[in-house]
Amino acid sequence: MPTNRNVGVLVSGRGSNFRSLLDAKARGDLDANFTVVISNNPSAGAKAHAEEFGIPWVVIDHRTFASRQAFEEELVAQLRAHDVSVVVLAGFMRVLSSTFLDAYGGLTLNIHPSLLPAFPGLNAQKQAIEAGVRVSGCTVHLVDSGVDTGPIIDQAVVAVPNDDTVEALSARILVQEHRLLPRALGWVLDGRVTIQDQVVALDA
Ligand code: GRF
Repeated sequence: MPTNRNVGVLVSGRGSNFRSLLDAKARGDLDANFTVVISNNPSAGAKAHAEEFGIPWVVIDHRTFASRQAFEEELVAQLRAHDVSVVVLAGFMRVLSSTFLDAYGGLTLNIHPSLLPAFPGLNAQKQAIEAGVRVSGCTVHLVDSGVDTGPIIDQAVVAVPNDDTVEALSARILVQEHRLLPRALGWVLDGRVTIQDQVVALDA
């Protein structure tokens, strides 16, 4: 259960999902305090959104750490320094291990551009096109030590027509990502997301 509404966001790239959280808060659709955004990539586009909204921007470049454990210890230290109780992985391209999960397991969300457990890992939209599926979509889930595993909080479905392309499918899925992620974060902050028998129970 979150102890406050302070949220830390971890990013690696352009940051459109991070932006969707900031926009949802600005619209009054999400009650959250974004106390820090941390990027493992110094040149991530997400920085511009952090600056526009005045959110503290911290770079923790994994390449400068001797081990995964040391990198994750620094992540946890920064999140704690910003009094974060819930973490959102918004296009964060590192797998997290027990060093991180011992601190924030059960309180960390990820957004993935497929209907998990189908197509985990990289290039999920390309995997979907190549598999010839008729529907794909996106998933918000709690993070565990696997790659895009962990209890599912919410999903949205997107049709995949015959002539679809990776780019077009990605764009249509992204629209749904931006709708799903702020809502799921709100549910977690409200303490409505609990785990029973390995699956999420969403309190009404
Ligand atoms: C999104 O497709 C997200 O589902 C995946 O990485 C991408 C990040 O995009 N995990 P952005 O940086 O949020 O624009």
